Amino acid sequence: MTSVIVPAASLGLRAKLALCWPDNSPPFRPRSLERYIRYLHLMHDVIRASIPLMELALTRCDDQTEQGARLADYYRHHIIEESGHVELVLEDLDELGVSNAQALARVPDLTIVAMAGSQYYWLIHVSPLPLLGYIAFLEGRPPTSETLEAVKAILPEGSGAYRALAVHAEADPHHSREMDELLDGLNLTHEQASLIGASAIQSVRLYLEAAISMNQVP
Ligand SMILES: [Fe+2]
Ligand SMILES: [Fe+2]
Repeated sequence: MTSVIVPAASLGLRAKLALCWPDNSPPFRPRSLERYIRYLHLMHDVIRASIPLMELALTRCDDQTEQGARLADYYRHHIIEESGHVELVLEDLDELGVSNAQALARVPDLTIVAMAGSQYYWLIHVSPLPLLGYIAFLEGRPPTSETLEAVKAILPEGSGAYRALAVHAEADPHHSREMDELLDGLNLTHEQASLIGASAIQSVRLYLEAAISMNQVP
């Protein structure tokens, strides 16, 4: 069984993700500035773990195997691509009256702690592969033009506090294509594809839980 290679692994993963969160779900549209600020806090909770998780993943890749070397190349490259993104969220928050010190001192959303935190478990106890499911999910839903327009509409006149959304709307479709190429080139076994899928499904479920509870608070 372990020797069976999964063809078109990216399609399998995208299908699992779409079952958890249908592709035709309505895009995020904040109805008030307060909700947008809450959304930025959530985004900060997620993004501040991105580069540290990939740096940890790099230490877990076995460069002696073809798959491990390819995975390490991806993480090295993607760390560079994600550099500066957390600072953009902090800049947006700062412009909206939340200082960096306040943003960093806030208690993070506990469901996001569980979502990002579980990736440390996958990395330390399992392998550097499941993190791909987490990243594929997070980058697989770039902000839409509707979201950007809705955000601009509730921002104060002349505000540029949508940097993080704009950068991800632009970059993540490209990052997702890189992810799909990687998944299809790794020669994943069924067991490995299942690990990536489990991590992805867990991530969607926890993220949706956090997003829903954020919107339910008045
Ligand atoms: Fe990013
Ligand atoms: Fe990205």
